[in-house]
Amino acid sequence: MPSGSAIDPDILLAWYDRHARRLPWRARPGEQPDPYHVWLSEIMLQQTTVPAVKNYYEKFLTLWPRVEDLAAAPADAVMAAWAGLGYYARARNLHACAKAVADDHGGRFPDSEEGLRALPGIGAYTAAAIAAIAFGRRAVVVDGNIERVVTRLNRLAEPLPGAKPAIRALTDAITPDRRAGDFAQAMMDLGATICTPRKPACVLCPWQEPCAARAAGDQVLYPVKAAKRAVPVRRGAAFVAVRADGAVLVRRRPESGLLGGMLEVPGSAWRADAPLPKRPEAPPLAGDWRACLAPATHVFTHFRLELTVFSGAFGQEIAAPDGLRWLPAVEIATAAFPTAMRKVLAVAFD
Ligand code: ADE
Repeated sequence: MPSGSAIDPDILLAWYDRHARRLPWRARPGEQPDPYHVWLSEIMLQQTTVPAVKNYYEKFLTLWPRVEDLAAAPADAVMAAWAGLGYYARARNLHACAKAVADDHGGRFPDSEEGLRALPGIGAYTAAAIAAIAFGRRAVVVDGNIERVVTRLNRLAEPLPGAKPAIRALTDAITPDRRAGDFAQAMMDLGATICTPRKPACVLCPWQEPCAARAAGDQVLYPVKAAKRAVPVRRGAAFVAVRADGAVLVRRRPESGLLGGMLEVPGSAWRADAPLPKRPEAPPLAGDWRACLAPATHVFTHFRLELTVFSGAFGQEIAAPDGLRWLPAVEIATAAFPTAMRKVLAVAFD
């Protein structure tokens, strides 16, 4: 239940005018936002934090200053520039979207939620965020920060994810017709800097008065979340074959599916609840394989991965088997290895 006074968007906007975070993709006051910048940042910020995105955002704009430049880039270069950000389907969709905007829309992003949603990689949240931030459209934007702010303001007892429609309706009710983009970003900033998960700084909050959770003193209980199921584990082997000149044996993952199109070292299938392999079964080359002491581990959205890393040294004359190639040593640092594979290489080269 909301407490006594109304939740006034103008109070939040006045706070935003004084306290907005300076982020590289934000237009300065009075400037028109560039839809390409807004879109690029919103795709990168899906499931990734602001500090992690900043450097990638700058790198992409340096490499590809306009959407047409990104559209014309080789897919490999886009994947390599994205490597480390995770969720690689985003990078493939990003490239497909840039091509669609360049080829089918004359290089201009559609300015409505509906038009934006028709593009690759743009779902309901991202379409609303771009429509509001880049084009000033009234759109209801709800991300994780905003969910926290809204459930606290209203002391919403219903657990996530079932509470999403109710949160959306409550956000809709306080979204203003004017400055919807600033309002969305003000909500994000409030959630990121004041209405934080564990120790909210309520004394600094422009909405401390109407906040129902603050009145009750139980802010940290919101948003209520449904109990999580335990994360399953998959295990397998990874083989790091190093040639005399430092080249490493690699292959490309299939285009579709997890880490689609990214590079990896050869390895076994990843099996649910299998033990960590102790011996190098079915290695890509016959040779003297040594198991590294600690496994490489990585947490994906749906499972935790543990890999025994086997490393082996090979002569310069050894040919790569079918479907594999030797990646020259100088290319290792910039190749499109996902984070899980970087961890495998770190274990092998430690
Ligand atoms: N997270 C997603 N989009 C954002 C934005 N525009 N500003 C700050 N954080 C964000």
